[in-house]
Amino acid sequence: MRLKRNRMCGTLRPADIGSTVCLMGWVAKERNLGALIFIDLRDTTGISQVVVTKEQTPALYEIAETVRGEFVIAVEGIVRERESKNPNLPTGTVEVLASDFQILDRAQTPPIYVRDEDNASETMRLKYRFLDLRKEQMQNNLKIRAKAAKAFRDFLYEHDFIEVETPVLTKPTPEGARDYLVPSRVNPHEFYALPQSPQLLKQILMISGMDRYYQIVKCFRDEDLRANRQPEFTQVDIEMSFVDMEDVIGINERLIAHLFREIKGVEIPLPIRRMTYGEAMRDYGVDKPDLRFGFLLKDLEDIFADTDFVPFANALEAKHSIRGFQIGEHESAYSRKKIDKLVDFVKDYGVNSLFWIKFHEGEMSSSMAKFLTPVQIDALKERFEIDQNGLILMAAGEYERVCAALGNLRVHLAQELELLDNQIFEMTWITDFPLFEYDEDEARYVAKHHPFTKPVEEDIPLLKTNPKAVRAMAYDIVINGDEMGGGSIRINNSDLQNTMFEALGLSQEDIENKFGFFIEALKYGTPPHGGIAYGFDRLVMLLVGTNNIKDVIAFPKTQSATCLMSGAPSKVDEKQLKEAHIKLDA
Ligand code: AMO
Repeated sequence: MRLKRNRMCGTLRPADIGSTVCLMGWVAKERNLGALIFIDLRDTTGISQVVVTKEQTPALYEIAETVRGEFVIAVEGIVRERESKNPNLPTGTVEVLASDFQILDRAQTPPIYVRDEDNASETMRLKYRFLDLRKEQMQNNLKIRAKAAKAFRDFLYEHDFIEVETPVLTKPTPEGARDYLVPSRVNPHEFYALPQSPQLLKQILMISGMDRYYQIVKCFRDEDLRANRQPEFTQVDIEMSFVDMEDVIGINERLIAHLFREIKGVEIPLPIRRMTYGEAMRDYGVDKPDLRFGFLLKDLEDIFADTDFVPFANALEAKHSIRGFQIGEHESAYSRKKIDKLVDFVKDYGVNSLFWIKFHEGEMSSSMAKFLTPVQIDALKERFEIDQNGLILMAAGEYERVCAALGNLRVHLAQELELLDNQIFEMTWITDFPLFEYDEDEARYVAKHHPFTKPVEEDIPLLKTNPKAVRAMAYDIVINGDEMGGGSIRINNSDLQNTMFEALGLSQEDIENKFGFFIEALKYGTPPHGGIAYGFDRLVMLLVGTNNIKDVIAFPKTQSATCLMSGAPSKVDEKQLKEAHIKLDA
């Protein structure tokens, strides 16, 4: 490289007029006006305009004529005032008149445009990720991600948390998802698992006396992917000794406030609101309520106590629920046809029908009009505080299913109605989770958080008799309807841990094989401890204001867990398989 860079493209200002600078970067745009060539030169800080003149520098002009989009060039020149200014660019009042010019590398015609408003398909963006990441928006996202990691580290370091790295090749630690397995070459027929989280290791660090631990750590889960899920994602993982739930929540609130102050410049009022799991299900139908809008769910069994409407009468007979919510003035956005389409939405949650009552300027229409009595109509209007306009959407069936269907529908409507402002952050802790949930596929109870979560003290006797009623000392932090983190106070006694495993239906042999090492560690003096893990990618999504987790991960995977850029996963050759003692089936 003949030239030496001494300034960044996005930093030139009127104060630089008259000085000589050397910029390097990619050609964002080139325009040949005959006597002049204009080049927009881009680096990570922004864009500056470069001018090459035919008359003053004919040799440079000849080189500049060959330049195309995404060529990498170096330009030395004097900063001068621009004739036609661009108020949309921070550097838009100045330009660099080239006195030296070098092509550092040529580029083929890029398959996607390198600009934020490019509307290339996601497939193309991921395949050509190296080009996609050149976009200002993507660069900003990664910068915010780095800044967020620093904010976490600064706070945690200040508060005496020690960053400890835990291994990536581990023993399987079930967290509810499937493991990614890695075969061991030197131990034929044996496998490591990539960690779903460092849960057991961080607890063992507490047993080891580390007192306060954290780690910004990759976790791996082989599960179905969604807009906010990746097979490998990052947690900010935290654990503390000699603490109760209030201690953990207290310091984490200050941590969250620190993060939002540093990155968004907003002050989060503390304490953060709290809601029990039961309240969340009752009012929002889900355990991660979006509090940016209303549409609260209501119970309606009493109103329909002696209804002739068969779906409702049947539900009451079966001791099921009838619930609903209403969307007020937004009713006018929903025609009969549009409401009918919502049935498909709730079907995904195991609810077959959606019933509706609409009030438009006092006039009522309904999918169940002939079954509604004036008394019921009045009661509904009162319960949902409807005067002239409103649309009530109702479902009947098992409580959990009705909650899930309506709770998710509530959010779906808010999205359709564009009620979700990304610049508002509505947070709540969810507490008092049930310790177990029933897994219909496995026909047994599974841990709602994980099997290391401590039951609420007074519920411990119920572990064997009525597991469904046992509450967990667990908490989630929910922001704008997404679970941003979750944690708990842990079991710190080997007998209770054993009882817990038994309640989950594990045999002594299973316990020994899977968790023997951990039960052993618990026997040598375990401090009371607890912690939390944040979904770091999800937090960064909030901080940059995107609904797509791929926007905040440099090299994300697709819905089917592939990397379109590198082609991972891929076949391996016979030799490698043999070394790993693996035979593929036909
Ligand atoms: P949990 O399983 O709730 O808890 O995970 C913690 C947080 O990690 C995020 N998260 C994900 N983010 C992106 N893609 C995924 N596939 C994904 N899965 C989870 C979520 C979630 O809240 N060991 C416990 C924590 C503890 O008890 O301290 C754990 O892993 O934001």
